[in-house]
Amino acid sequence: VKRVTTHTLREMKQKGEKIAMLTSYDFSMARIVDEAGVDVILVGDSASNVMAGHETTLPITLDQMIYHASSVVRAVKRALVVVDLPFGAYQGNSKEALTSSIRIMKESGAHAVKLEGGIEIKESVERILSAGIPVMGHLGLTPQSIYKFGTYTVRAKEDEEAGHLMHDAKILDEIGCFGIVLEKIPAHLTEKVSKSIDVPTIGIGAGAGADGQVLVVHDLLGITNEFNPRFLRRYANLYDDIKGAVAHYVSDVRSKDFPNESEQY
Ligand code: KIV
Ligand code: NA
Repeated sequence: VKRVTTHTLREMKQKGEKIAMLTSYDFSMARIVDEAGVDVILVGDSASNVMAGHETTLPITLDQMIYHASSVVRAVKRALVVVDLPFGAYQGNSKEALTSSIRIMKESGAHAVKLEGGIEIKESVERILSAGIPVMGHLGLTPQSIYKFGTYTVRAKEDEEAGHLMHDAKILDEIGCFGIVLEKIPAHLTEKVSKSIDVPTIGIGAGAGADGQVLVVHDLLGITNEFNPRFLRRYANLYDDIKGAVAHYVSDVRSKDFPNESEQY
């Protein structure tokens, strides 16, 4: 199979082909997600919530992100694998940002990194890019700043914040990011930003105007069942399916139905 590269994504935007991106954090899920034809697999720091049960993305460490990323990389044959730089691994200074990015690339074999922020991380993004590491931006509701925002509601509804977001998107485009995630912003702003820059935008809760879409795979599959934002479309109800299957197993063990004659040696 032909691998998806950052160039593939830029061409897709030029041709008006939408990009499908999804998270994965482990080998087994990444294998399925890749074989289903997803273009970009994000090893998101949402692993902190989904995999580890933390309330926010802040606690996950660089070592933990590398563990998740290396598991995903071993499974993927086609998709571009992007890894989140976790909170605390890049905000200190541009040298720290580069060192963390190099660790991710070397130790996991992933293809790119993603950082949250705009103008304030410009120097770090430039330094990572100059080492030959592709960088994806992330603007709007950036979960690593949840304690600054104080709420998970839609960002950039007011003109001032929308203007800053547009400015940040242009900076990230100009300095050479290969894509920008736009999280939870008004659809009209996503459309405006996407038309103003050359690199693809990937939206989550950002409307139809983005050049691609991303979701957390556990949300799409209905494994998480207490998270119900308007933007989430569930394609399965695995919480109930898995619970039903496991309960069936428990009952079969208790009733001595499992294992049967043909299930033993
Ligand atoms: O960590 C994550 O899953 C993300 C996506 C939701 C964009 O950053
Ligand atoms: Na993230």
